[in-house]
Amino acid sequence: MNLTGKRIVVTGGAGFVGSHLCERLAPDNDVLAVDDLSNGERSWLPDGVELVEGDLTDPDVAAAAITGDVDVVFHFAADKNAAADDVEQFRRNNRLTETVATRMDEVGVSNVAFTSSSVVYGEAPRPTPEDYAPLEPISIYGASKLGEESLLSVYAHSHGFTVWNYRFANIVGPRLQPGSVIPDFIGKLREDPETLTILGDGRQEKSYMHVEDCVDAMCHVAEHADAAVNTYNLGTRTTTSVTTIADIVSDEMGLDPAYEFTGGDRGWVGDVPRMRLSVEKLSALGWEPDGSSDDAVRRATGELLE
Ligand SMILES: NC(=O)c1ccc[n+]([C@@H]2O[C@H](COP(=O)([O-])OP(=O)(O)OC[C@H]3O[C@@H](n4cnc5c(N)ncnc54)[C@H](O)[C@@H]3O)[C@@H](O)[C@H]2O)c1
Repeated sequence: MNLTGKRIVVTGGAGFVGSHLCERLAPDNDVLAVDDLSNGERSWLPDGVELVEGDLTDPDVAAAAITGDVDVVFHFAADKNAAADDVEQFRRNNRLTETVATRMDEVGVSNVAFTSSSVVYGEAPRPTPEDYAPLEPISIYGASKLGEESLLSVYAHSHGFTVWNYRFANIVGPRLQPGSVIPDFIGKLREDPETLTILGDGRQEKSYMHVEDCVDAMCHVAEHADAAVNTYNLGTRTTTSVTTIADIVSDEMGLDPAYEFTGGDRGWVGDVPRMRLSVEKLSALGWEPDGSSDDAVRRATGELLE
């Protein structure tokens, strides 16, 4: 689908990635954001993008935002910060997607682009392609994403929807919030420039992608893939270890702290310690990540320090 001259709803549009997508789409489209501002900021929305403020698990909020003239819904709204074993997060995220899909179906809107995650793969061999199975997530958040993908599959195959599922690597850049490793290291080093506590053994190794590349790749996939369900990994071809992130953040801040490791092979229960997505399918569709994971981390660190 050509993303020009369209009426577009972005759920979670006032959040980190959603607000960057609004910026990308607003000049050429009529964009409406829906967000309860639980983890987003109204001020992140660009000029010309209206906000429907409310909780999208409420069908009235979905009805206010999703009307029959909408061409596509980019569905970002999610609770991503719950405790690792909070099963409520599974219910909330699936309820969100159910409410959005039900409303779309009611008013005849059939295009939805959904932000899934690498965590649906669990601890899979790397680089992990989209058709890897069995999908065995190890966190409630991962299970919620897999549940949402499977619900949207039903809407694609039994209700005529076109679905784009984006399985994100770790996305970084301006407006990334605490709870992610780069802003957490910056915050800790501002409090104590001498010592940095690192969760796990520091050898966790994941792929990071800059948010501008992420929204670029999202638009490319929506514009070029037209199956009923289009599932694409979005990431870079390389990885960055947590200790390397600590080195980059320290370097960008002009510091040389001592590292203290909490130990163990992962940061927390449900953390997938090693992740690298295969991006061959994305590359075959004509979008190539041009920077490394380390480049994305360094660029985002500089931007977050500004
Ligand atoms: N950032 C990443 O590295 C990453 C990686 C994998 C997947 N994702 C997924 O991408 C999407 C965007 O991530 P993000 O990092 O921008 O997160 P974010 O928290 O910044 O954005 C989500 C937005 O949804 C809003 N929201 C939450 N619950 C809501 C509700 N019930 N009703 C209305 N709005 C609600 C929040 O206020 C927030 O603005 C999420 O679905 C996330 O799970 C992100």
